[in-house]
Amino acid sequence: MRLQTMHDRQRDIGDTPPEEFRKQLHELADWIADFRQGLGSLPVAPNDEPGAILAAIPAEPPEEAEPFEKILGDVDRIIVPGMVHWSHPMFLGYFGWTTTAPAILGEIITAPLNVNAMTWRTCPAATELETLVVDWIRQWMHLPPEFGGVVYDTASVGVMHALAVAREEAAPAVRKCGLVGAGAPAFRIYASEQAHSSAEKAAIALGLGDENVQRVPTDTQFCMDPSALRKMITSDIRDCFKPLAVIATVGTTSTASVDPVPEIAEICRENKMWLHIDGAYGAGFAILPENKSLTGGWREADSIVVNPHKSLFVPLDFSVLYVRNLERLRNVFTLVPEYLRGDTVEAQKNYMDYGIQLGRRFRALKAWMIFRSFGREGIAARLREHIRLANLFANWIKEDDRFELTAPVSMGVVCFRWLGSSRRAVPTNETRIDQLNSEIVENINARGRAYLTQTKLRGRTVMRIGLGNVLTTENHLHKAWEIVQETASELNCER
Ligand SMILES: Cc1ncc(COP(=O)(O)O)c(C=O)c1O
Repeated sequence: MRLQTMHDRQRDIGDTPPEEFRKQLHELADWIADFRQGLGSLPVAPNDEPGAILAAIPAEPPEEAEPFEKILGDVDRIIVPGMVHWSHPMFLGYFGWTTTAPAILGEIITAPLNVNAMTWRTCPAATELETLVVDWIRQWMHLPPEFGGVVYDTASVGVMHALAVAREEAAPAVRKCGLVGAGAPAFRIYASEQAHSSAEKAAIALGLGDENVQRVPTDTQFCMDPSALRKMITSDIRDCFKPLAVIATVGTTSTASVDPVPEIAEICRENKMWLHIDGAYGAGFAILPENKSLTGGWREADSIVVNPHKSLFVPLDFSVLYVRNLERLRNVFTLVPEYLRGDTVEAQKNYMDYGIQLGRRFRALKAWMIFRSFGREGIAARLREHIRLANLFANWIKEDDRFELTAPVSMGVVCFRWLGSSRRAVPTNETRIDQLNSEIVENINARGRAYLTQTKLRGRTVMRIGLGNVLTTENHLHKAWEIVQETASELNCER
């Protein structure tokens, strides 16, 4: 009786009893394996009205403890059907993001370790593993050792930190006195009209103003036009702006186009500007020896961001910002309050010094597991397969004259457009074709058989797929192509 009471009391104030926890873990292991195995037969996306998930869950917080089985049952009943399954083999949205078995294992191991990797002392292993993994990626990207990196959640956060350093170096007292106090000039940042909107977000956060992000025109391949960049800089200097930085993109969001980094680097050098390379998607492809040329000009960059969570098979979130001489980043962000002083060891890397975040997850473990499980060769083989599939899909488009390719195929990305009828036919209303392309994507996604995205190129709506999922095979892709063709014909006939 006494034992029973203690047990109950422990239950109320402590953790789940070990034996029960063990049983739940075994159950969960089966759940995860079943989920991965059966994923391909689930709808890729739900077609519920907004609010459907909320309506299925009690609005009031639980008063009493609920059993694990009931909670897991609700995951099956409410959460899983309410998801877009980004790991589904028919998910071709964005960059075809993936997770992998080693990644899932890495995340599982990370959970019980439960560390806060803010300083070396608060977790030596997390700090040192982060340093190691970041250096592995540096080597794969052919960056010289003077580039040091730090792991953030996203590339958007990476570019913000990079531009904060650029700002501080161009107006050295901003950290201390703020923009006004430091008498900072009106800075300008340049990025191509295809570059990601994180440039503007960074400008907003840093008090630079999103209007001061100038969009540079691109050529027919959607790559930044360096002569236009040069002209814009000259004109801005004449108008008393201070050109601060250029963001060159390697793998733009819509078409995965690659800006001419060597030429842009030269312009930055001439004008003493910071060069940031946004390789969020594309930089990972440098792991392929045949892509070495992709890295031209990278050594001259001040900073470069790569998202292994986009192209190196690490699940969200894992983004690395490299800075040539990482001390430059540290100089801007180090700040040690008294309550942390005891946990900082001067000679060691304390990652809290390299950004605004104090608490930091142990992200390096999952990356370490994936990189060791696949090896460089395994990663390269998978990327090559995605490039092959993207080109195969592009060939199918070329063979069907009701569609056209709307951008060169780059990495795993294909942009294409339904023309509404044979491309040899008399040109039809472009706005109507825009609408049809958009409807095709929406219709496919709503039915949950595949998932695509849409974007605008030169003002026209196009469909877009991204290959990047380890579960997507040629058969899946062929099925997706048939779905696109069928849906396009159906919608076109309904008009
Ligand atoms: C080229 C590029 N840069 C930056 C980003 C922002 O990435 P994140 O979600 O990691 O902030 C994206 C997102 O798709 C992107 O495509």
